[in-house]
Amino acid sequence: MTKHWLIGGLAGVSALAGLAFVRAQDAQTRANAESPAAYAAGQPIAFPHNIHAGSEPGQSNMDCQYCHFSAERSVDAGLPPSELCMGCHQVIPGANNPQEVDKLKDYHARGESIPWVRIYKISDHAHFPHMRHIAAGLQCQQCHGEVQTMEVLSSRDPAWGGNNMGWCISCHRQEGASDDCAVCHY
Ligand code: HEC
Ligand code: HEC
Ligand code: HEC
Ligand code: HEC
Ligand code: HEC
Repeated sequence: MTKHWLIGGLAGVSALAGLAFVRAQDAQTRANAESPAAYAAGQPIAFPHNIHAGSEPGQSNMDCQYCHFSAERSVDAGLPPSELCMGCHQVIPGANNPQEVDKLKDYHARGESIPWVRIYKISDHAHFPHMRHIAAGLQCQQCHGEVQTMEVLSSRDPAWGGNNMGWCISCHRQEGASDDCAVCHY
């Protein structure tokens, strides 16, 4: 942990004590969230982002928020329900991996939600509101990389820094956003 952001953090002393406690409780959650092993097994359906969101010939060029539709109005970007997928896949079988589309249909027919494996996660003691970042004009790619060129998401973008608060703070200083402990921790 770098120390520069602690300078001037006297007001944060009690917050820090509290966080040290939360941190211990949170250690296991975080280890899971950061461990590649937590998602190395892949996704329950090999969902290709590039085929849906890419703009190459044969790709559908869908807007990210067509599926992650709560990003601009809530804390979580959200994942689409299988109904949204079925809107197309009722009639699109999938030319190369039809068995993956069949899995989608099976979950849907059983009325089960798809158990997608979570990839991007910060500790519970920190707060990240998507809508504030989208309203400020930031692009998904600035934090998640060029998702529209990726096949099955199986690891975080190499440039991701969300589990190191220096990443958040340096952009906040650059963009004139708050670096007050209380906006991100409570
Ligand atoms: C057709 C719907 C659809 C579109 C369009 C789409 N996504 Fe996704 N996205 C999903 C699904 C389903 C998942 C969960 C499976 C996975 O992780 O690949 C997901 C997962 C993600 C995740 C990882 C979430 C986690 O687990 O932490 C990110 C980040 C993401 N999408 C960003 C984007 C961006 C950026 C775009 C636009 C370039 C985009 N998505 C377009 C459906 C979509
Ligand atoms: C706007 C229409 C649309 C929506 C919504 C949509 N898809 Fe697709 N999907 C497509 C098209 C088009 C293809 C390419 C099919 C092909 O090449 O035959 C595709 C391909 C796929 C494939 C790969 C199949 C293959 O043969 O390579 C999978 C898996 C898939 N979609 C799952 C999903 C899931 C899961 C969702 C919801 C999160 C979803 N799709 C939402 C249009 C859509
Ligand atoms: C400023 C950086 C940043 C931007 C911009 C951003 N995200 Fe995120 N995203 C994050 C962080 C941080 C998390 C983890 C949040 C948490 O654990 O509470 C996350 C988590 C997610 C997740 C999984 C959890 C959830 O929120 O449902 C999805 C999906 C996602 N982002 C999609 C998107 C999409 C789509 C966009 C663009 C519309 C976007 N993100 C823009 C930083 C960002
Ligand atoms: C690429 C730049 C960038 C990154 C990275 C980034 N943010 Fe932000 N953040 C912003 C901007 C810009 C705003 C909007 C400020 C405004 O609305 O005035 C913002 C706003 C916020 C707010 C609302 C602040 C308030 O005043 O209420 C919170 C909370 C927040 N960010 C948390 C985080 C966390 C946690 C991370 C790291 C996981 C993070 N941000 C990463 C640019 C960024
Ligand atoms: C822009 C958002 C943001 C601001 C402002 C912020 N933090 Fe953080 N902080 C984070 C994030 C994100 C993490 C890492 C979460 C994770 O591990 O996933 C973190 C982690 C921490 C940790 C745990 C350290 C560790 O190694 O995990 C402490 C303690 C902490 N912050 C204290 C503070 C104090 C004190 C301040 C004010 C001087 C502050 N933070 C300001 C976002 C922020």
